[in-house]
Amino acid sequence: MKNEPKKSEKYFSDPSMWGFIHRSFTKSMGYTDEDIKKPVIGICNTFSELNKCHSHFNELVEYVKQGVWQAGGTPMEFPTISIGEPYVKPTTMLLRNLMAMDTEEMVKAHPIDGVVLVGGCDKTIPAQLMAAASANTPAIVLSGGPMLNGRLNGESLGACTDCYRFTLEHSAGTLNDEQLAEVENAICRSDGHCMVMGTASTMASIAEALGMALPGCAAIPAVDSRRRHISQMTGKQIVHLVKDNLKPRDIMTEKAIENAITVTMASGGSTNSIIHIVAIAQRLGMKLPLEKFDEISKRTPFLLNLRPSGKYQMEEYFEAGGVPALMKELESLLNTECITVTGKTVKENMIGVKTLDREVIFPLDDPIENDGGIVVLKGNISPNGALIKKTAVSKKFLKHIGKAVVFESLQDMEERINDPDLDVDENSVLVLKNVGPKGAPGMPEVGQIPIPKKLLKRGVRDMVRISDGRISGTSYGTLVVHVAPEAAVGGPFALIKNGDEIEIDLNNRILQLHVDSDELKSRSSKWKKRGTYYDRGYGLLFEERVLQADLGCDFDFLLPKELRPLND
Ligand code: FES
Ligand code: MG
Repeated sequence: MKNEPKKSEKYFSDPSMWGFIHRSFTKSMGYTDEDIKKPVIGICNTFSELNKCHSHFNELVEYVKQGVWQAGGTPMEFPTISIGEPYVKPTTMLLRNLMAMDTEEMVKAHPIDGVVLVGGCDKTIPAQLMAAASANTPAIVLSGGPMLNGRLNGESLGACTDCYRFTLEHSAGTLNDEQLAEVENAICRSDGHCMVMGTASTMASIAEALGMALPGCAAIPAVDSRRRHISQMTGKQIVHLVKDNLKPRDIMTEKAIENAITVTMASGGSTNSIIHIVAIAQRLGMKLPLEKFDEISKRTPFLLNLRPSGKYQMEEYFEAGGVPALMKELESLLNTECITVTGKTVKENMIGVKTLDREVIFPLDDPIENDGGIVVLKGNISPNGALIKKTAVSKKFLKHIGKAVVFESLQDMEERINDPDLDVDENSVLVLKNVGPKGAPGMPEVGQIPIPKKLLKRGVRDMVRISDGRISGTSYGTLVVHVAPEAAVGGPFALIKNGDEIEIDLNNRILQLHVDSDELKSRSSKWKKRGTYYDRGYGLLFEERVLQADLGCDFDFLLPKELRPLND
């Protein structure tokens, strides 16, 4: 294996006219004959002024290049699309698969022997890991790092958990316009991605737990000088990975995927990460049923005291030791023989690692909770599963029965949620349909259905809410999401009507509609599929080929052939 010719060699040593063209055109950019004999390292720079979370990437990439040169490689930077949560409409999830395709095809089509994937904002690292799994060229992830904590009046602010909290208080009338503007200026205090344990931090942690990023990478703040150091070390390390021919599929094994799930559960990680982990695993040729997540969740104590489930943020996590310290706590639950991008095993990477702050990372034998953050709920509403982040649920709703208040679409919800005549109280169960992968389409983060204003004014801050959409990893509340199959494909979720009784029971993993099966059959016979939302282009491709949430929302044709389900 070690002696197979490098891909770049095939380009630059080609005796035909093409070798001449490759050498000539490359040298015109300043590379020398000596440079093009070295391993060529692609650096996938997803800098974009349309993506705040990646605003500092050009600087990081310079450090990566230094590392590549130092270790005897030749860096070549290239772009792909870059997806930032705040701007992209209708939802970034619509573009994750496009980014994965873009990244995979860029890596495959060029003389790249190894690649550094520089990502950060929510969908970017998942897309890059999916691409790495499919391309299977030596790869390493460099996450861009979280923002510093926001600061205001001695309080620590977190994006975007506090974006929701403060705008909610503003609409409840407890915060005035000036106060809200102050928060707006203080919350995003530096470069970097969201600094709570949202999707970006969860995915950066997952890259590390999988063994695809250097230990410690995930939690270093974006602007901390140590992120420059790890950028340089990442550049060095990819050259070693190429020399050792250690590829993503050697690293992202089934056992490594289990490690990533364990770390996610112990972290109170984002529900979005479940979709992404499934998608990555499928690209590797593995089936990953939601039961696996539940099984791991049940045996994994929740250890990390970070928002939105706890008190602190990534800055404190970094100071407490970051992902390596959490993994050390979890050692007995991890597959420590897995090989990582360091060229060493998880166990070897852990030597000398300690937790430095017990307020942030709890010990395994004295956890915050005995089981993991994310729970899979099944029942006649979600035969293929639904998710809830248990660590963000109000205790009183762990077991609850309430009457459904149904919204057939996002637009329907927006039109009626604040209607003073809406028949709703604090025990109602808000149901939002048609916001799933095909339904919206793109499965937007709208599962945090707003509390009706009239209830907000009465002090209600949480209700049971169910949707086939997603929530931001920074959301909190009793939010059942990812109901599969979704309403748009005629799943039982489509059949819920106003006033139906719904039971939720987290301990017993139940999500049940108390309507008898004959009535459901009769409703099902009357259900009609609506036409597609898009009539052309990428949107139509997405609508036609996207898989359901429990299958990772990848496109069916991107899965290895043997795993491809029949699309509906
Ligand atoms: Fe990019 Fe939150 S907006 S991570
Ligand atoms: Mg997010």
